Amino acid sequence: MNTQPIGIFDSGVGGTTIWKEIHALLPNENTIYLADSINAPYGPKGKDAIIHLSIKNTEYLLNKGCKLIVVACNTATTNAIDYLRETYNIPFIGIEPAIKPAALQTQTNAIGILATKGTLSSALFSKTSYLFANHIKVIEQEGHGIVELIENGQLHSNDMKSLLKTYLKPMMDARIDYLVLGCTHYSYLIPILLELLPKHITIIDSGEAVARQTKTVLERNNLLNTNPIKPKTEFYTNGNPKFMTSLLGEPFVIDYLDF
Ligand code: SIN
Repeated sequence: MNTQPIGIFDSGVGGTTIWKEIHALLPNENTIYLADSINAPYGPKGKDAIIHLSIKNTEYLLNKGCKLIVVACNTATTNAIDYLRETYNIPFIGIEPAIKPAALQTQTNAIGILATKGTLSSALFSKTSYLFANHIKVIEQEGHGIVELIENGQLHSNDMKSLLKTYLKPMMDARIDYLVLGCTHYSYLIPILLELLPKHITIIDSGEAVARQTKTVLERNNLLNTNPIKPKTEFYTNGNPKFMTSLLGEPFVIDYLDF
């Protein structure tokens, strides 16, 4: 048994969707969430900058004694996780767009991927896409501007709706039946997307799969916390703590971090 916390980081509030899944599946685990909102979005940054920020986040969580780190950001995963795994001696869980299940299940042979520039242009994304979706049409759409609107508290704004309508149009024209969300921030869009999309389009995000993978890796490394005492949850942000509390929907204390 190991009571050290699980560390989770993202370029902002998006990864809290992953934190919710992990907390639900592993309710005994202590968790520390780090939102690097001041540097959001990571998506348009170059690989070196993304690696640099990922190192900074990782070292912060390691100094807090984390036993495993979840890189709850597709852009950081696709650009930096190899480096992190080679450099630090703890397990890292990453997040990749769920192309495989969408490609296996599509009936129209067309799927849509909404992700950041950093994810769509990464070698890991190209490899996954080539391996699993080579035989179908993949409509890739860069979600330019979405993360900024979410981080600025404009999730439910008209600007968001019109941006999404523009991004979804080519996908609907191509008759997709699966839409893959390739950014953890985008999970907060699901209620809006359900309004905008026809009913036959299934939305896939990676949250549950990441929580299951986290559990498997903890078990495999003998790192599970089986202690029944109520776990400790710590949230840190260098953005707006009040906004983050509102997204979590529970009265957690979010500490501001000058980071
Ligand atoms: C971003 O910071 O641009 C989005 C993070 C992600 O790819 O999940």
